[in-house]
Amino acid sequence: MDGIDVRNLEKQYQVFRKREGVWASLRSLVTRQYTTIRAVKGVSFRIEPGEMVAFLGPNGAGKTTTLKLLAGLIYPTAGTATVLGHVPWKREIAYRRRFALVMGQKNQLWWDLPAQESFRLHKEIYRLEADVFERRLAELTELLEVKKLVGQPVRELSLGERMRMELIAALLHSPDVLLLDEPTIGLDVVSQRKVQDFLKHYQAEQNLTVLLTSHYMKDVQALCQRAVVINEGEIKHDGPLADIVDRFSTFKVIDLLFAGDQRPQGLERFGEVFDDQFPRAKLKVPRQHVPEILTGLLSNYSLEDVGVQDRPLEEVIAELFTSTRADAEDASGPTGDDGRSDPAGARR
Ligand SMILES: Nc1ncnc2c1ncn2[C@@H]1O[C@H](COP(=O)(O)OP(=O)(O)OP(=O)(O)O)[C@@H](O)[C@H]1O
Ligand SMILES: [Mg+2]
Repeated sequence: MDGIDVRNLEKQYQVFRKREGVWASLRSLVTRQYTTIRAVKGVSFRIEPGEMVAFLGPNGAGKTTTLKLLAGLIYPTAGTATVLGHVPWKREIAYRRRFALVMGQKNQLWWDLPAQESFRLHKEIYRLEADVFERRLAELTELLEVKKLVGQPVRELSLGERMRMELIAALLHSPDVLLLDEPTIGLDVVSQRKVQDFLKHYQAEQNLTVLLTSHYMKDVQALCQRAVVINEGEIKHDGPLADIVDRFSTFKVIDLLFAGDQRPQGLERFGEVFDDQFPRAKLKVPRQHVPEILTGLLSNYSLEDVGVQDRPLEEVIAELFTSTRADAEDASGPTGDDGRSDPAGARR
């Protein structure tokens, strides 16, 4: 089967726990104490060929672990996965020629050599024909605007330039599946945009299947329509990116523009005032109370303009993660009267 198919995938790590103190350390040399970390706890999802899906979650959620499993770098503890019909951890050569993994935090190019030397190595590894290789290299360096830099040692490149070289190295062999682990981490806004634009264009043109992790919601919004959200090794949401705001945002923002030159009093009664710059102000209000709050505002103040907005995806996701954590710590159950604020209620 094409695409990516993940079923009940589980990965546990055994970590050696060192005891405190000299005597305890010596003793633990003899009786080693291990703890089990369940990094990925039975996740399932499917990605269709040609889809670009965001894989979101807070630090330590299990994203990189899942990508490493899909790249065949590590073995799962349980469960199955196929990518383009291959079981990744069997490490078949036929699979290696069809996917690529790019990790923003890891340098895969030779540090002291010009990028073009690493590219030549890839040519040999993937047994690319000379003319195919030259053509691909010319195309990619052109698209990513790094043609002039391929002869410079990688260590002399800026982070943004290096990242673009990493992408070239990953794409030279024309993979059908691309696993991207934070490809824009640490990049400035301009470089981030370059990488985003390139990925958008290239993915559509080549009909690549992409799974992308990023902590930058700008990347995600620019590139993906669908998001799989993972937290503490479990899938919390799988569906349209736009649904995340609808489903998890417990608040909306009311934008107010006051008429007259008197700063209005008592706005706090209606919600949390967070951007108070007379004649403008913003109010954060529970979404289920928006209609009555609007009525109250209109009858109490003289307003030039009023607007209701969803909160930015970034904030909603941050809230989703903190509330799931709070949920785990305090098992008192759902909060909020419409169930929207209950991330546990959203679990599948
Ligand atoms: N090699 C390893 N040995 C032991 N534990 C590990 C190992 N790799 C990851 N973990 C643990 O597994 C959990 C998931 O880690 P993972 O790197 O998959 O998270 P992540 O979602 O990629 O986070 P981030 O957003 O910070 O990159 C974490 O608790 C982490 O400490
Ligand atoms: Mg990670």
